[in-house]
Amino acid sequence: MTAEIISGKEIAKQISEELKQEVRRLKYEHQMVPGLATVLLGDDPASQVYVNSKVKMCESLGIRSSRYDLPSETNEATLLELVARLNKDFQVHGILVQLPLPEHIDESKVLMTIDPGKDVDGFHPVNVGKLMIGEPDFLPCTPHGIQQLLVRSGVEIEGADVVVVGRSNIVGKPVANILLQKKPGANATVTICHTRTRDMAAHTRRADILIVAAGKPKAINADMVKDGAVVIDVGVHRIGKTAEGKSILCGDVDFESVKEKARAITPVPGGVGPMTIVMLMTNTIKAAKMAAGLV
Ligand SMILES: NC(=O)c1ccc[n+]([C@@H]2O[C@H](COP(=O)([O-])OP(=O)(O)OC[C@H]3O[C@@H](n4cnc5c(N)ncnc54)[C@H](OP(=O)(O)O)[C@@H]3O)[C@@H](O)[C@H]2O)c1
Repeated sequence: MTAEIISGKEIAKQISEELKQEVRRLKYEHQMVPGLATVLLGDDPASQVYVNSKVKMCESLGIRSSRYDLPSETNEATLLELVARLNKDFQVHGILVQLPLPEHIDESKVLMTIDPGKDVDGFHPVNVGKLMIGEPDFLPCTPHGIQQLLVRSGVEIEGADVVVVGRSNIVGKPVANILLQKKPGANATVTICHTRTRDMAAHTRRADILIVAAGKPKAINADMVKDGAVVIDVGVHRIGKTAEGKSILCGDVDFESVKEKARAITPVPGGVGPMTIVMLMTNTIKAAKMAAGLV
């Protein structure tokens, strides 16, 4: 069996068309334009690429973006002051502080300063807690994107054995929580594996849906996957460059071997990656609707 490819690129395109319509509707029916502020410290090339693509996506959907690029030596007080100002700005509905921040800045202090109603990354403890009790305002973008990939590909999640490899606060734990919710598109039986898990393959081989966010290139091979499983590969690793200087990427899953065993699989690139950014746009629109009392 060769697996069906779950194209995040295609599904993200579908969702962005829906979001474009929604932004248009908000403009004509409610005279409002959702706004996202991005804050970037320093000149890390990967972070710049991420922020550029977020700003570009805002433009293509009709979302107002305001961009704050600050030097890497900006002190914590200045950054906190900017966040506090954005919290009060009624044209800004979502605030995104691009991570990682330089070492002299306390990341968690900054994230805690963002108004939870504008926390479109879903990292504020208030939003983490709301997800935990099943009443989320904002779902974190990558985990929400994974759920959407499954739902929109027609994968049955209810009752499925889902195994998540990785327990980070940005991917592993929240995706497990999302799929555990007592709601449509969830209701799975979820196991989380990490570096202290004994006999990880025994767990992964049981998975109807295997979600891998280990941050280790090709950590999962075909021997660790059940016949007919659905495999979602969150990892992104640059493993070289083409003659034209383009990055060669791979994921946490050995795609070539696993695709012969799985029923469906996400590629890298073009799988989870494109979903993260559209879910950020989804959250920004939701934040604007919340601010206007529309949800
Ligand atoms: N496409 C996207 O939009 C997107 C978004 C976010 C992240 N990513 C990618 O996804 C990957 C994971 O990101 P992350 O932020 O969650 O990583 P992370 O913070 O490094 O967490 C990795 C997790 O995997 C576990 N782990 C590592 N090696 C393992 C192994 N051999 N067996 C079992 N568990 C193992 C670690 O366990 P311990 O807790 O025990 O250390 C940890 O919980 C990275 O490649 C990242 O670049 C992609």
